[in-house]
Amino acid sequence: MRLLILGGSWFLGRTLISDALARGWEVTAFSRGKSGQPPAGAAHVVGDRRKEGDLQRLTEAGPWDAVIDTSAYEPIDVARVTAALGNHVEQYVLVSTVSAYQNWPGLPVDESSPLWPSSPELTEDSPELANLTPTGHYGTLKSGCEDAATEGAKRSLIVRPGVILGPGEYVGRGLKLLKRAERGGRWLLPAPADQPIQPIDVRDVSTFLLDSIEAKRDGVFNLVAPAGYATYGDLIEICLELTGRRAEPVWVDPQWLDEHGVAQWTEMPLWRTPEGTWHVDGRRAAEAGLVCRPLADTLRDFKSALGQNGIVDHPRQAEHGMEADREAELLTAWDKAEWSEVR
Ligand SMILES: NC(=O)c1ccc[n+]([C@@H]2O[C@H](COP(=O)([O-])OP(=O)(O)OC[C@H]3O[C@@H](n4cnc5c(N)ncnc54)[C@H](OP(=O)(O)O)[C@@H]3O)[C@@H](O)[C@H]2O)c1
Repeated sequence: MRLLILGGSWFLGRTLISDALARGWEVTAFSRGKSGQPPAGAAHVVGDRRKEGDLQRLTEAGPWDAVIDTSAYEPIDVARVTAALGNHVEQYVLVSTVSAYQNWPGLPVDESSPLWPSSPELTEDSPELANLTPTGHYGTLKSGCEDAATEGAKRSLIVRPGVILGPGEYVGRGLKLLKRAERGGRWLLPAPADQPIQPIDVRDVSTFLLDSIEAKRDGVFNLVAPAGYATYGDLIEICLELTGRRAEPVWVDPQWLDEHGVAQWTEMPLWRTPEGTWHVDGRRAAEAGLVCRPLADTLRDFKSALGQNGIVDHPRQAEHGMEADREAELLTAWDKAEWSEVR
């Protein structure tokens, strides 16, 4: 199998390359060389997907049976590539996101739920997008990327992952949760502990994509862990277990946290109260063979990758987690609030 990865030097792209090489596939990575190198064993074409000349040069390294696009953020990113690759590739796999759904995270979604309206000329700087939330902005552009893939490719597979965790995760979610658990003491957390969550391991995304290429699968699939997979309490328990049980969870009313300005999704990673956040229907992918490994394996392997390779540095990490002083102040305020309520 000959595979082209658009990206390949970073998180999902790196995982895909390692897994494809382990299957004996021939792999080409295309990236600018700004975010490191792809794993050894892949051919690397250095270039910018936003430059026509670089894309023309890329076609000389083809043809390929499939391309997996991990680095499209504007519709034109996809349109340029499908136009340049044309007959050089049989199948186009676009990694989109659950943010492409107009109603996510507000409402539960499945693959038939409406996407953000988009159009081919929208870019990250389009004034039409200026008033959208960050999720709406990102989702609108990704929805346009999906249209471009469907229209421009011979055969397309579109996947919409939710939160991706696992070795190499750089956003700061796994990192800040483990660091907080390691710091010990009383740990401010959002109740209820039995809130279901659906993060997916990067290696399970990769396996599904490579299996799908082998099966010549097309269509659209949400990629999330199944309902009943794990709770927020499980996530915390795993972090405690991995760090020697130094911290003591204090589960706090989520409305109170909101009233005290605690930022959902970032200050408290993976905490988000809208009803649909963790109600993404993943049955279609599960029926097609997606298997999600236990969350404990994901976090354990993330931690050991940190031990081996160090932290994968990224600016987004700064917005995740809560400063120790702020947490201490909030805990004191919560203790007072609880005290006055109970008595
Ligand atoms: N992380 C999550 O939780 C999550 C959740 C849902 C969906 N997704 C989707 O999953 C996909 C993969 O995410 P990721 O975090 O692994 O990677 P990413 O940050 O989206 O992609 C980075 C890769 O693309 C390359 N790249 C970026 N701009 C490029 C350009 N102009 N020309 C050529 N190469 C370029 C980078 O290398 P260079 O910088 O060296 O060029 C790097 O290899 C994304 O499409 C994202 O939307 C992620």
